[in-house]
Amino acid sequence: PKKIILDCDPGHDDAIAMLLAHGSPEIELLAVTTVMGNQTLEKVTHNALSVARVAGITGVPFAAGAHRPLVREVETAPSIHGESGLDGPVLPDPVLELDSRHAVDLIIDTIMSHEPGTVTLVPTGALTNIAMAARKEPRIVPRVREVVLMGGGVHVGNWSAVAEFNIVIDPEAAHIVFNEKWPLVMVGLDLTHEALATTEVAERIAAVNTVPARFVGELLEFFGETYKREQGFDYPPVHDPCAVAYVIDPTVMKVTKVPLDVELTGALTLGMTVADFRAPAPAECTTHVATDLDHGKFWGLVVDALKRIGDP
Ligand code: BDR
Ligand code: CA
Repeated sequence: PKKIILDCDPGHDDAIAMLLAHGSPEIELLAVTTVMGNQTLEKVTHNALSVARVAGITGVPFAAGAHRPLVREVETAPSIHGESGLDGPVLPDPVLELDSRHAVDLIIDTIMSHEPGTVTLVPTGALTNIAMAARKEPRIVPRVREVVLMGGGVHVGNWSAVAEFNIVIDPEAAHIVFNEKWPLVMVGLDLTHEALATTEVAERIAAVNTVPARFVGELLEFFGETYKREQGFDYPPVHDPCAVAYVIDPTVMKVTKVPLDVELTGALTLGMTVADFRAPAPAECTTHVATDLDHGKFWGLVVDALKRIGDP
């Protein structure tokens, strides 16, 4: 299996990403780390531990990371994820204890203690922890197999006309991560706006008929309502599990090599992920953008993971 570190801010779609990773035999979950974003660090960390209980995740270290962006003030998303960051279902009290290390140190220790080229980073929140890890221990960069992140979009936005939430809340961190020389796949809004949890998807999940599946159903119900109200979507786009799905099966989407960078100074374009499609990507380019989701295959992975998890 592919070894991953999931760095997240649960978050409805982050929670589903955790379940997908845990329920997939193609993935070995080495660690879960948290970063402020959808809600404060305290709330998203509590949520991550609570989801671990729902999913029956044990024996995996969980660590809390950055409580604020590198430069900017904290900006959360209660309009989408509610006051708890995971509104909708009842959240069980966590049973796992947090690792005593800071997330940045857990990320570094995990990468340095595994063979080079074997650990994939899957960030599904702001890139603060990942940027800090790269600065604190630069030897992780050539050791990482790949960074497969949910964030950005080729000139598509959701938190501004052209910027996506995970990138725009800590654009300096994103700039660091996009400019390090590790292979990077941007699973951005171009792709994730196709990952809609349609009525048919909700029915397939309900048919699994387990506690975790009902939990996902309740998450999707709340997420669907806020996405309809705030962003005018008929069905919610379930972003974060798309990054995990790429690691499980890269054929679930199309990936194109293209130079990518993050705008740090634009008055209208702060946090925009700028793709340069003018010419074929140069040989030294390490960045890629994902498009064209196989919707049936993607939701099949999620449903299969829930079936495997069963009632833990
Ligand atoms: C991203 O922002 C967060 O609200 C979601 O969890 C996802 O990671 C989508 O823009
Ligand atoms: Ca997220």
